[in-house]
This record gives sequence, structure tokens and C-alpha cells, in this order.
Amino acid sequence: MLVVTAIADLQSVIKNARLTHQKIGFVPTMGALHQGHLSLIKQAKAQTSFVVASIFVNPTQFNEAEDFKLYPRTLDVDLKMLDESGCDLVFTPTVEDIYPSKDLRKFDFGLLEQVMEGLHRPGHFNGVAQVVSKLFDAVQADVAFFGQKDFQQFAIIKAMVKQLNIPIHLVACPIVREPSGLAMSSRNQRLSKLQKEQASAIYKHLTWAKTNFKQYSLSELKNEVEKCFFSSEGLELEYFEIVDENTLIELNSWPVDVKIVACVAVFCGKVRLIDNIVFNL
Ligand code: PAJ
Repeated sequence: MLVVTAIADLQSVIKNARLTHQKIGFVPTMGALHQGHLSLIKQAKAQTSFVVASIFVNPTQFNEAEDFKLYPRTLDVDLKMLDESGCDLVFTPTVEDIYPSKDLRKFDFGLLEQVMEGLHRPGHFNGVAQVVSKLFDAVQADVAFFGQKDFQQFAIIKAMVKQLNIPIHLVACPIVREPSGLAMSSRNQRLSKLQKEQASAIYKHLTWAKTNFKQYSLSELKNEVEKCFFSSEGLELEYFEIVDENTLIELNSWPVDVKIVACVAVFCGKVRLIDNIVFNL
């Protein structure tokens, strides 16, 4: 496995890979890797022949300096994990490599960025679009792999690829969970043992909602789930929303023909966790 930091080095390795007609797969990450990330590498290996991962903690997508500072950085372990998963090339740029000058671009994703994460983390998706567009431009991959864990992020990246006419195919991969049900996340490293147990209630409430939703009107279900969160020790609910998978618009009643996704953001102590679940109609 090769590790490169400079964009020029990245591009010369990719150019060589292209000479042998390989299909390039790309998995962008911010490091502190776990099995969720590795599942994306596995998917990339199954669908492409040269797998590139990036590790870059992107400052422009953090709306709190403290969160950026506390974001776990475990580069040596990450590289070992990627090597063992059969990743071919890792791109570990510095902030100066990605942002030689301030990125002044302002994206407009309309409603997609005005709800949930977009509403609660102003500027977050603009930062995501800035970095992902730059990474796509640097890597020039054929296919990029993302997790459904960040369901709204995937919708934003799909919209960005369309807006910018980027010739790349996007694949969304299922959420990987701990045995307790807690969705794997780099931020889980900041949870104590007790907090991890408390945070496992998130998935319990989501699965309860998925199993029982037909017995309630949408607003009743929402109330019931919110009550579950309010009575969950150690958790503070930020939002629980039931949305249309494509538009991300909040639903008022059960639809007949659109895919429903229930999305949640919760604080466990100071750590903010997100999760979601798709309902089968
Ligand atoms: P990061 O949080 O490191 O996640 C990298 C990728 O791993 C994302 O596509 C995310 O959805 C996926 N992922 C995280 N946890 C997962 C899980 N439990 N199961 C499956 N996939 C999971 O998302 C980002 O980084 C950044 O915003 C990035 C796209 C790299 C831009 O900076």
C-alpha cells in the first residue's frame, strides 16, 4: 500500500494505475477508522480494481473549533487497518495541500441543506462539498463509496456531483453497527463505557419505530419516540425527524410510494451522534 501526501504524487500514482486500465474506487474519510469505514473499502474492492482512501480531517466542515480539535487522530493505526484491508493507495494531504488559499465557494443545495444536520450545523455541508469536490478532482476516481450512516451527506454529495457535472458514480453502503446496535462512528472513541451503553438506546428506539410505525399516525409515532429519548438516561435529543428519502422533506403522514427514513441526532454527554433507519412500507 502506498501512502502519499502531495496531490502531484497522488496523481502520478493514479496515472500509472489508469495505464493498466484499472477502475479506480475512492473512499474519502477523516480517519479514526473503524469497521464502518473498512466496509466501504471492502465494497470498493469488490466493485473496482484500484482502491484509494483519503484521510483528511477537514477544518471547513466543523462548525465548532473545539469539535475539530477533539476529533480523534490515529494515523498509524488507520494506515495499518487500510493496509490489512487491501487498500492500494492512501492520500493523507495537509490542510495546505487541500486549501492553498481560502476556499470561498458557496454551494446552494436548497432544501436539502435546510433541514436536520444542515439546520443544526450551519455551514457544515458547504465544508463537506468544498472538500469532497476537491478530493474528487484530485483523485479522478470512477466510483466513490459513502456510508448511509451520513444519509443527508450522501444526498448533498449526489446533488453536488450533479451540479458540477463530475463524472463519478456514487455508491451508498449500509450502516455498520456495534453488537449493541450503536452505529459505528469515530466519535464513539470519545464515549465512556457507560455512555456507550446509554448510546445503544438510539438504535433500540429507531428499531422500535421501524417495527411499530404502522400502528400510529406519523405525529403520534414521533411523540412516542421523542418520549423514549427523553426518558433515556444520558441522552439529550436534538432532533428526530421522519423524512422522504429523496427530498429529505419532513413527512406529515405516511406516504404510499416514497421511501421513509427516520433520522436522529442525539448528544451523549458532549458527543453528538447521528443515526437513521429506513422504514419498509
Ligand atoms: P467520516 O466520518 O470519516 O466517514 C467516512 C465515510 O465512512 C462516510 O461515507 C461515512 O458515511 C462512512 N461511515 C461512517 N460510519 C459508518 C458506519 N457505521 N457504517 C457505514 N459507513 C460509515 O463522512 C466523512 O468522514 C466526511 O464528511 C468526508 C465525506 C470524508 C468529507 O470530509
